[in-house]
Amino acid sequence: MSSIDSVLKENRLFPPSDDFRVKANVSGMEGYNALCEQANNDYEGFWGDLARELITWKKPFGKVLDSSNAPFFKWFEDGVLNVSYNCLDRHLETRGNKVAIIFEADDGTVTKVTYRELHQRVCQFANGLKSLDVQKGDRVVIYMPHGIEAVVAMQASARIGAIHSVVFGGFSAGALRDRIADAAAKVVITANESVRGGKAVPLKAVTDEALGLGGCDSIEKVVVYQRTSNKCELWDDARDLWWHNLVKGQASECEPEWMSAEDPLFILYTSGSTGKPKGIQHSSGGYLLGTLVSMKWVFDYKETDVYWCTADVGWITGHSYVCYGPLGIGATQVVFEGVPTYPDAGRFWQMIEKHGVTTFYTAPTAIRSLIKLGGDLPKQYNLSSLRLLGTVGEPINPEAWIWYHEVVGGGRCPIVDTWWQTETGANMIAPLPGAVATKPGSCTLPLPGIIADVVDEAGAPVEPGKGGFLVVKKPWPSMVRTIWNDPDRFKKTYFPDDFNGKLYLAGDSAHFDENGYIWIMGRIDDVLNVSGHRLGTMEIESALVANPLVAEAAVVGKPHEIKGEAVVAFVVLKANRPEGEKATQIAKELREWVAHEIGKIAQPDEIRFGDNLPKTRSGKIMRRLLRVIAKGEEVTQDTSTLENPAILDQLRHSAL
Ligand code: PRX
Repeated sequence: MSSIDSVLKENRLFPPSDDFRVKANVSGMEGYNALCEQANNDYEGFWGDLARELITWKKPFGKVLDSSNAPFFKWFEDGVLNVSYNCLDRHLETRGNKVAIIFEADDGTVTKVTYRELHQRVCQFANGLKSLDVQKGDRVVIYMPHGIEAVVAMQASARIGAIHSVVFGGFSAGALRDRIADAAAKVVITANESVRGGKAVPLKAVTDEALGLGGCDSIEKVVVYQRTSNKCELWDDARDLWWHNLVKGQASECEPEWMSAEDPLFILYTSGSTGKPKGIQHSSGGYLLGTLVSMKWVFDYKETDVYWCTADVGWITGHSYVCYGPLGIGATQVVFEGVPTYPDAGRFWQMIEKHGVTTFYTAPTAIRSLIKLGGDLPKQYNLSSLRLLGTVGEPINPEAWIWYHEVVGGGRCPIVDTWWQTETGANMIAPLPGAVATKPGSCTLPLPGIIADVVDEAGAPVEPGKGGFLVVKKPWPSMVRTIWNDPDRFKKTYFPDDFNGKLYLAGDSAHFDENGYIWIMGRIDDVLNVSGHRLGTMEIESALVANPLVAEAAVVGKPHEIKGEAVVAFVVLKANRPEGEKATQIAKELREWVAHEIGKIAQPDEIRFGDNLPKTRSGKIMRRLLRVIAKGEEVTQDTSTLENPAILDQLRHSAL
């Protein structure tokens, strides 16, 4: 693990330039420390003041935090607001003609919408949803290409108080079905096709397939946005309707549904350590506050910025830093439909130049792949508009950090390495760029008001340099409220009895260095981080064993130069262990099977067939041995408890 070794040895410090510091929203360590002190002295007062400053309330809240039913915390509960009002209406007077979204399609076509136009489109679509009898509290599944309409659909749901559940357009019919069924959604909003990297994906056909799999009786309507001129294969007149027909003639004003701050804004499914994805439920008021505070502090938002977060709205990053944070704060942002490598690996840099991007937020995996495909390409573009860079989703190795800093940022842009999760709603640990000196590979210090720590099994803080569990010791406004339909799982997963139910367990291991900076080491559960996407090993295993050929499967991760982690599947077939051509053929079939069951992102990079799996005498699969084999290393651990030691040798030589 050379990248981890170099992460551990990294010690260079990059303080903000004087120029950046002086102009920053939080300036210098004095500024950072003053905020932390305020939070320490009066935690609720601190968050209450921010909520009053950054959110426009229809009716102000009286109480900041209600811990009476912990860990089901409530923030600003008697406050009344509408999130879409905060993202649109409140800007109309001062920013009505400001561009809200600069949309660049896969083929390079650019469309700009102002706040006034976006407001109108959201209102019309919201009225359209109402005409389909979508009401406050109903669930709406959004399975759309990344683009203006996806944002409109999310904002329109928020406007009428419906709870959206966005499903990433790369997920398969099976994954879509599971999410629709768990949320008992009333409507699916999709498109005939999505287009990425010059290739079309038939989203409507996948939706048809998902609905045909059963368990989706709650669905009354499917709204279809026409992204391309290609026809839909199937069309059910009673169920399906075109987006353009739905909005035709709808009024361009729609009174927002006034919501309690605790009313759910959305559910977003994410992987955990069991086979079933968890519906992470977020609130309206606290969630919005988390996105706004981080826009101001971490992204140092300025009215003149052109902000660009490259994440798809299908992930939490796209929720918080495309749909809600930038619009909530009134920013002009770029939304890009395509992929960083199409038509070539200069696409991001070309777009930064073209749109004058000031703030650029992407994933380490994208940076690593762009270094590999064209490390010199940024030099061909004028990137002088950039003033701040960010990363999210996985640890960044110092080599990639330095390249990002030097070649993309011209050595002048601070890099905010932001640690957070679907569950945390917004950035949690990240440098405030005008205050905290950065270190390549470390997400540095918690945001003021976020009480993060690294503890041992007993919940006691560990000393610097020692690994432990990353925890958050106090509730924070944008935290997950519950797991949809499964409050017990919420409690057990995030506030386990091991820590007396008092600490939020993030599921990551971490350590402090001698400066008190936090370094994320990786997940402590069976969750993989492949190209910044979170995948449960159990989910992939369940998909594999659902194949009629497969008797047993175990999935582990192994380090990967570009993706961070790669998926390795150990498979035992019902028939004899295949060899040669046959093995290659079945491995291909199984990869396609997983793509069909979950999505391409979950396809195993490597499949190893065995007669069996290494198990203890009590029948438990020894995953730590599988991890060693997956890495291609010698097994040096104690294997005396292993029932079938010979299997190790067979698996070592079976990579496909
Ligand atoms: O392991 C951590 C990793 O991504 C996990 C959360 O994944 P997800 O809910 O999909 O959200 C990703 C985008 C916020 C975390 O438990 N992770 C996220 N950011 C970082 C990170 N690991 C290291 N450094 C980060 N900056």
